[in-house]
Amino acid sequence: MDNNNDNEWFDDYFEGNNNTDNIDKDTRPQKNTTRHIRWGAIAILVLIILLIALLVFLIAVFKDDIKDDMNKNTSDVPAGAQTGITTTPPTTDTTDPARSDTTTTTTEPEPPKPPYPVEADIEVIDGVTYINGILIVNKTYGLPEWFDPGVDPVAQAKLEEMYAAAAQDGLTLWTASGYRTYEEQRTLYEDYAAVDGYDAADTYSARPGHSEHETGLTFDVNDPSSTFDGTPEAQWLEQHCAEYGFIIRYPKGKEDITGFMYESWHVRYVGEEVAKVVMENGICLEEYFGITSVYSESE
Ligand code: DAL
Ligand code: ZN
Repeated sequence: MDNNNDNEWFDDYFEGNNNTDNIDKDTRPQKNTTRHIRWGAIAILVLIILLIALLVFLIAVFKDDIKDDMNKNTSDVPAGAQTGITTTPPTTDTTDPARSDTTTTTTEPEPPKPPYPVEADIEVIDGVTYINGILIVNKTYGLPEWFDPGVDPVAQAKLEEMYAAAAQDGLTLWTASGYRTYEEQRTLYEDYAAVDGYDAADTYSARPGHSEHETGLTFDVNDPSSTFDGTPEAQWLEQHCAEYGFIIRYPKGKEDITGFMYESWHVRYVGEEVAKVVMENGICLEEYFGITSVYSESE
């Protein structure tokens, strides 16, 4: 049978023309089979394409898990050690769902910001400097000669309260040196300078107009010398002074910032709120306010 007969038979067959008597009936099954094979091949091809697409999709979705399994199965040695890559052990955040068992990158949390230096509102009233309402005296910020406030009654009351608390703990604290006038400070400083020279005196004695003793807010407790360092009284003072609003004004290790040597006996009243931040953080008042303590060239 030739091709023309083939086509006629198919046309007749699918168009419902059953008048096929004129067609050689022996050829019908052969044509039908060829057609089925062709459709079958197409179906298999489509199936294969779909399977490949599915495989690609699955690999893309589960590639991280597959990689993890491969790493786990290699040995007990951490993957980073084998490849020469340093692995960082997981730190605090173990709840991150994105973190796999062998993931090496963890984001360190931002360290908490210290509560200092605070935003300093500096106000100068008649030559007297206040920062956030607190009177400031150091090598940078001086006092006028006429400034003569006497002992601050609030600071005095808190001091006595502190002494009473120390007594309860079996320790005796007293005031060796309190308020000084500008002139008294001048005499003291000049006397030290006459003995040790001005450069040495500047490390432990304030020039007139630059001593906190002129504020009425400062007291030297017990023995104003290095022999007081480390005594039970000095330790108690450091541990408890902030509870009464005082700070150790010239702490150890802060000499370059305060401009003065360590004075374990010299306390300054600043109020409890500031005192606690300063003492708990082991800082000096200059660090708390973010200010300097340096004499100007002209002084
Ligand atoms: N000893 C401190 C610094 C003063 O003279 O005020
Ligand atoms: Zn002092």
